[in-house]
Amino acid sequence: MDKIAIEGGPRLSGSVRISGAKNAALPILASALLAEGTCTFKNVPALQDIRTMGRLLERLGCEVSGDRTVRVAAPTGGDRFEAPYELVKTMRASVVVLGPLVARYGRARVSLPGGCAIGARPIDQHLKGLEAMGATVSLSHGYVEAECERLRGARIVFDIPTVTGTENVMMAAALAEGRTVLENCAREPEVEELAQVLNKMGARITGAGTAEIHIDGVDTLHAIEHAIMPDRIEAGTFAIAAAITRGDVLLEGVRPEHLDAVVAKLRRAGVTVAAEGDGLRVSHSGDLQPIDITTQPYPGFPTDMQAQFMVLASLARGQSVIKEAIFENRFMHVPELGRMGADIHVDGRVAVIRGVKGLSGAQVMATDLRASASLVLAGLVAEGRTEVLRVYHLDRGYERIEDKLRPLGATIERHPG
Ligand code: EPU
Repeated sequence: MDKIAIEGGPRLSGSVRISGAKNAALPILASALLAEGTCTFKNVPALQDIRTMGRLLERLGCEVSGDRTVRVAAPTGGDRFEAPYELVKTMRASVVVLGPLVARYGRARVSLPGGCAIGARPIDQHLKGLEAMGATVSLSHGYVEAECERLRGARIVFDIPTVTGTENVMMAAALAEGRTVLENCAREPEVEELAQVLNKMGARITGAGTAEIHIDGVDTLHAIEHAIMPDRIEAGTFAIAAAITRGDVLLEGVRPEHLDAVVAKLRRAGVTVAAEGDGLRVSHSGDLQPIDITTQPYPGFPTDMQAQFMVLASLARGQSVIKEAIFENRFMHVPELGRMGADIHVDGRVAVIRGVKGLSGAQVMATDLRASASLVLAGLVAEGRTEVLRVYHLDRGYERIEDKLRPLGATIERHPG
């Protein structure tokens, strides 16, 4: 297995172009199942999770081609409805094919994702939505089976805002008969962009990006071309890299409005963030100030940035408190950061971080994507050599992070293993 080796110390400077957003691209690729013809998606990030989605769509009878510009043609009369365990277990987001399959072909069989490294992560809200629209949902042999000749519009109030749940049900409703009203929806920009894509295909959706979405179902949707929005989490991760190395980095091609909560916390830590062209310049010198963070659904502070801010807090002058309110088990980076000299105490969902003078390089590994990213960040400032093992977690969500950090001045390389 590949590992990434980092010699800590260099200050990062220069500019880095932010890639297309993984969590926007995944449901958007799945949305091609709803359209007649060949969809073309541009600015798709070259990531392991994207390749997994491509393989899944092929298993469902789609023709999939291209890297970055990806074309997907769904079959006209589908006879392959199954998202198998071997794919779903490597990527939970596979579940976003459920809504499109039922809506377009009347049937889906999708492996239950089960628990994952960051928590139990049930899909009850996805199923509740489909059932409300008239689907018969059953569970057997570890699979969810959903069937319905034609879904009907319904009023659905989600118990909690769920990103992929909102996306799944919104996609299903796009081809349902009549009007669907979704309440307590996730307001993430990725949900809003998916709605834009569906509307380009001919759907009639309003309100995406707010808590209430209205969908007037249509009979068919057509193929489109669309460029994926920039990845706000990749941007946030590079912002932390600039801040903790006391660097000066221009993040090119971001949508600053997607990063408000992250930028607010960076500024609170004393980091300078300024709009520049189509990007954000992040620079820092001197001490970092402690910060208190509670993760929340968008527009609150994203759980996907919690691990990276933990590294910043570890280097701040004073005590920070970080509460993880979305996932119950998303502190796996804490013991690894501890091995690098961080002073972090966890009690349930709350981590108390006392800033230390410096970190020291070590061999570390993590069992999820954002935790792995936090270890790379820690390696950039740690004294000596850090080796991050199990790099496949990182490759699920970051495009060859070492090739983007090296031009900024980082001493980082990948060792194939
Ligand atoms: N939940 C339920 N029932 C459901 C669905 C969700 O109880 O039916 C709970 C979850 O267990 C969690 C909360 O609701 O406690 C929110 O989960 P959500 O469904 O919003 O998460 P998700 O859709 O599975 C997406 C991202 C994650 C990101 C979360 C939260 C994608 C493909 N994944 O997951 O991204 O952490 O939203 O913002 O969009 C990552 O990129 O590293 C990543 C994990």
